[in-house]
Amino acid sequence: MPLPLVLITHTLPEDWMAALEGRVRAVTGPVDATRFDPALETHLPEAEGIFCLLTIPIRADLLTRAPRLRVVSNMAVGYDNIDVPACTARGIPVGNTPGVLTEATADLTMALLMSAARGLPQSANDAREGRWSTWRPAGWLGMDLSGATLGIVGMGKIGKAVAIRAKAFGMRLVYSDEVASPEIETAVAAEKLPLEMLFRQSDIISLHCPLTAETRRLVNAETLRLMKPTAILINAARGPIVDTPALIVALRSEQIAAAALDVTDPEPLPPDHPLYSLPNCLIVPHIGSATHNTRRRMAELACDNLLAGLAGRRLPNCVNPEVYQ
Ligand code: DGY
Repeated sequence: MPLPLVLITHTLPEDWMAALEGRVRAVTGPVDATRFDPALETHLPEAEGIFCLLTIPIRADLLTRAPRLRVVSNMAVGYDNIDVPACTARGIPVGNTPGVLTEATADLTMALLMSAARGLPQSANDAREGRWSTWRPAGWLGMDLSGATLGIVGMGKIGKAVAIRAKAFGMRLVYSDEVASPEIETAVAAEKLPLEMLFRQSDIISLHCPLTAETRRLVNAETLRLMKPTAILINAARGPIVDTPALIVALRSEQIAAAALDVTDPEPLPPDHPLYSLPNCLIVPHIGSATHNTRRRMAELACDNLLAGLAGRRLPNCVNPEVYQ
């Protein structure tokens, strides 16, 4: 029996992919692919598995060109890049990598939150560029985290990990989600609020919901207007949850104090994008899960999902389990 043909959209460190050794025939895309590589596309008719990253759209038209496809494995917890209903309609299970990136993403969220609350980018710049002339009693003032209210939108695994960290900093916690999380309410005294109240009450808002039709542009001109003028917005979830032009207006007019973004819309941001010109906006290039261990574990979990799908076994992490019914 020939080994199953798998299309891996990006070249990844060999040791992360060791589980595939001798078990699949892999055709791999370039390390920095920004789209499904045309050379890989020529193999779609024979492909039995796809291993992809969150930046590569897997849409219905691509699936129709892959009649032998049996599994799509995304090396990410988010899977908004994949047309899951189209996969389900074809009986193709889709795998993702939840859990393994929770702590790293929560750590990065706290780093963004603290950087924005204490103006680290601006003050570090001032020091480097010679504007540190003396100790200024009223210079470089930021926000106290202790006693401040953190509003978490989306109390999933990552939202909870952020809540636990924020509690240790003495923050008051409120959250919005479709479902209540009684265990986090008990653990960190978090209060569930309707979204509008969360926007009004929070000193810092941190987004941790998935990107869906309901959450797309959830932060928009209207909801930004509800925020305090001293408030900070953190996004380490997905860029399109925020309406970028509306955020630019809010930051430029100081309708809100600052934003710190790990994700953007568009992503990546072109170098001349207006967001970069705003001193009150900190932007990092989608590095929430970027630690050595976490990225390796994500790749390993994605390999596990891929191999399970090829073997006809249930994926360890399947986003469309209805394919098994
Ligand atoms: C994910 O896995 O969805 C994250 O965005 C990667 O950092």
